[in-house]
Amino acid sequence: MSKTLTGRRIVEMNDNWIFFDSDIGVKKATSAAKKAKEKITLPHTNRILPYHNFDEKEYQFVSWYVNKFKLPADVKGKKIFVEFDGIMLAAEVYLNGKLIGEHKGGFTNFRFDLTNYVKYKADNILAVKVDSRERPDIPPFGNVVDYLTFGGIYREARLIITDTTYIDDFWACGLNVLKDDRAMVVQYDIRNEGRTRDIDLTFQLVDEKGGLVTETSKNLKLKQQKNISENIVVQNIPDVKLWDIEEPNLYQTKLILKENGQVIDEVQKSFGFREAHFAKDGKFYLNGRHIKLIGLDRHQNYPYIGAAAGWRLQYRDAEILKYELGLNIVRTSHYPQSPHFLDRCDRIGLLVFEEIPGWQHIGNKKWQSVSLNELKEMIVRDRHHPSIILWGVRINESQDNHEFYIKTNALAHRLDPTRQTGGVRCFRESEFLEDVFTYNDFSGTVQEPNHIPYLITEFAGHTFPTKTIDSIEKQYHHTLLHARIQNLQLSKQNIAGAIGWCAFDYNTHIEFGSGDRICYHGICDIFRLPKFAAYFYKSQISPDKEIVLEALDYWARGDWNECPKNLTILSNCDEVEVRIGKRKIGVFKPQRDKFRNLPHPPVVVDNIRAEWGGKWEDLTLIGRIRGKKVAVRKYPADKLPVELKAWVDHNTIYADGRDITQLSFMMTDKFGNICPYATGIVTVQASGNVELIGENPFALFGGRGAIYVKAGRKKGNAKLRLQCSSGHSAEVSLKLV
Ligand code: GAL
Repeated sequence: MSKTLTGRRIVEMNDNWIFFDSDIGVKKATSAAKKAKEKITLPHTNRILPYHNFDEKEYQFVSWYVNKFKLPADVKGKKIFVEFDGIMLAAEVYLNGKLIGEHKGGFTNFRFDLTNYVKYKADNILAVKVDSRERPDIPPFGNVVDYLTFGGIYREARLIITDTTYIDDFWACGLNVLKDDRAMVVQYDIRNEGRTRDIDLTFQLVDEKGGLVTETSKNLKLKQQKNISENIVVQNIPDVKLWDIEEPNLYQTKLILKENGQVIDEVQKSFGFREAHFAKDGKFYLNGRHIKLIGLDRHQNYPYIGAAAGWRLQYRDAEILKYELGLNIVRTSHYPQSPHFLDRCDRIGLLVFEEIPGWQHIGNKKWQSVSLNELKEMIVRDRHHPSIILWGVRINESQDNHEFYIKTNALAHRLDPTRQTGGVRCFRESEFLEDVFTYNDFSGTVQEPNHIPYLITEFAGHTFPTKTIDSIEKQYHHTLLHARIQNLQLSKQNIAGAIGWCAFDYNTHIEFGSGDRICYHGICDIFRLPKFAAYFYKSQISPDKEIVLEALDYWARGDWNECPKNLTILSNCDEVEVRIGKRKIGVFKPQRDKFRNLPHPPVVVDNIRAEWGGKWEDLTLIGRIRGKKVAVRKYPADKLPVELKAWVDHNTIYADGRDITQLSFMMTDKFGNICPYATGIVTVQASGNVELIGENPFALFGGRGAIYVKAGRKKGNAKLRLQCSSGHSAEVSLKLV
């Protein structure tokens, strides 16, 4: 995200909002704001909901958000803008009772000029009419959609105060970054809404430590009320560190406007030197190195709070995908996602395929023009992110529409000539107007590409919905489906990679999912807690980073149809010794003959001899690498719950009244493994300056659950006490700083 140092002022506007959950109109909203006591913070969801079993109509209404603010002193003569990062689904913005502008589309940011409407010494009342109904004139709506968009001002907002000469936008891209003659093209739009001026424009490239790498200046003679949009090419860039998935080196680019040596505006954006390309040989290259893409699709919805997740939860998702699942790419299905999520992808080296909002349906010409605007807003917002390697310029799985898709491709190439386009389709005969044929292959195998370059953008999904409460048999096949498809795609040199459906379970409409408004297609549940399939991905991580040793089994004889016949282990160890009770069953190696292309194929123990009848004993797995014992896992014969385990994702959070972390809990056996059929009811009590968000009490589902902990504004310690109806209890502490 852009950040400002000097010249302009940014006043974050995430506190002190007043929320009305009905269409009270601008007059009432403006006058009620003067008295209202209860204030809400952004990001905000217009309705807190259960994590499932709710009616999606509940959040489809018009609401009003009002913020009373005084401008800082000395801003007379300046430009004053309000910027919103995301309002679902349409917004009308009023200042002091006057309509300033309307924005259609819930996934991109927008900015309105308030200058002519502000009061300098008195209170200003900013009122926003938020329409969270599924309007058929705005993507993705007009037909059925397999996801929920939720409602509200669900991302951050701010005031931006600038000189009358200001940077409207700028971005920099690298040229020939792998060669000695590397250069940068800096494109900028400067607006001059004042007098004729003599301005010095400076572009700076700064490294992570703040050291200047290169600087270029140019004099601009700005005529009165005349804007400038142009490029400069910056040459002779010294040796730089590349941005890569292993070492995501970031820089900062800055554009500074000065008049007589005084900074009048400055904008900063992060930047990475990298070359990303889907080539004619079918492979994807990052910095000249062939990388097979392995990833998952991600929806941006969260339990309880809909899409209104702030930076910490967004960061956490990117970290789960990269570090806990070992993926190298994510698709932001099916819309532009939070800037925080993308910032984190940049920072940790996770590649991104970002696409425009939509789902199978293309509306009329007006709808299409909203879509084109969303495409523009997405690219302008995000083109500086080195993690993004592909723009999705088709409505996911829509029919062909020659005229429309010629336009989306042309617009994407014009706004960003450095990136290729894709467009996700579900039928192979589709007209290929993009640079990369991006295809959802639900065949259960990996079809031969019909165009090159070719990227699989979904598989599994509705062909194999899987819950944490499903039988082990089902979870086993779900896991092996992901393993089989990734293994197959890795064997095909003419396929750039495969992105599976999907990372996390997500809320959906009545027409989809399991009836409780969840599509259980994730390899993690809606709380981001792993299913077995997550351990397949995790077990592909290099053991230098983390040792993985997991039975694809709950180790209960009667849980399988006709008893377990074999035992599958997901691991990145060289070999696994298996013991049942005191008996050593043997030492087993990964099944390389079946999964030739996986770095770490599953380990399979055939004929485990666990027939019906007889004694049932503990299972012990001992993982070894180069002959050395590196991990031991035990699964008890007696799986009775003995402990309620609880943890927060982050033990230290900010006392800013907005920060949120997740409290997760699960019932475990005596060796710490989950008891999937524990059904207790967990009640959480908090002491300290925190608020709990979510279902509390919570009825365990698959032996586990989670709620959120939101920080108050007082620093100090907080304690969370969990009591389960089974009698088990737990306690977690956290600090607010
Ligand atoms: C695809 C669609 C996704 C999701 C998935 C479920 O057709 O693109 O959004 O619905 O099916 O498998």
